[in-house]
Amino acid sequence: MKVSPSLLAANFADLTPDLEMINASEADYLHMDVMDGVFVPNISFGFPVIKSVSKICNKPLDVHLMVVDPEKWISAVSDAGGYIMNVHLEACRHLHSTVHLIHDAGMKAGVTLCPSTPVSMLVDIIEDVDLVLLMSVNPGFGGQPFIKNTLKKVRELRALIDSTDSHALIEIDGGINETTGSELAAAGADILVAGSYVFGALNPIERISILKAL
Ligand code: DX5
Ligand code: ZN
Repeated sequence: MKVSPSLLAANFADLTPDLEMINASEADYLHMDVMDGVFVPNISFGFPVIKSVSKICNKPLDVHLMVVDPEKWISAVSDAGGYIMNVHLEACRHLHSTVHLIHDAGMKAGVTLCPSTPVSMLVDIIEDVDLVLLMSVNPGFGGQPFIKNTLKKVRELRALIDSTDSHALIEIDGGINETTGSELAAAGADILVAGSYVFGALNPIERISILKAL
C-alpha cells in the first residue's frame, strides 16, 4: 500500500519536526489540503506554505485543492512544487481541459469525488487521469468518521479502471486507520491518506508503517 500522510493534522506552529518525521518514514507522498472557505466550510493554507514545505520535504507533494475553479491555480501549484494536483470534479466546469492543463504544467492529474458523487461520473475521463481521489468524509475537516459506502465505490472504481486502458491509481481520503485501511486494501485501493491517525499518534512513523503493510 502507498501512504500519503495529511499535513492538515500536523503542528502548524512548527512544521519542521513533522516534516523531518515524514522524511524519515516510509511515506510515499505528503498530502496537502488547500481550502478556500467557499468550496468547503474551512480555510487551511495556500501556496507559500506548499513552497516552504517543498524545500524541506523529500517526498512528492500530493496537493488536494478544495477550492472553486481550481484551473486558476495550476501554475501556482506547479511553481510551489506540487507533484500531483487533485481537483474536485464538483468544482470544475471543464474537467477534461483542466486535466490536460495540469499535464501540460508537468504534474500528475488527479480527479477527486465527494462522498455523494457517483463513480459513474468518471466514465469519460478515467483514461486521462493518473489518479482518482475518493473522499471517504465530507471535505473540509480532519478527524471525521469514515463513510462506509466508500468501500462500494472503491470496488466500482477498480472495476471501471480494470475494464479500460486507464492506469489511474485509487487514493482514499478521510477517517483512515488500520481497520478502515485494511478494508480499503481488500476493496482495491492503492494509496491511503491519513491525517489524525498519523499525526495524532505518539509514534507516527510506526502508524505509517502499519498502513504501508496493508
Ligand atoms: C479533509 C482532508 C483530509 C484530512 C483527513 O477534507 O481532505 O486530507 O486531512 O484527515 P483524517 O485522516 O483525520 O480523516
Ligand atoms: Zn485531503
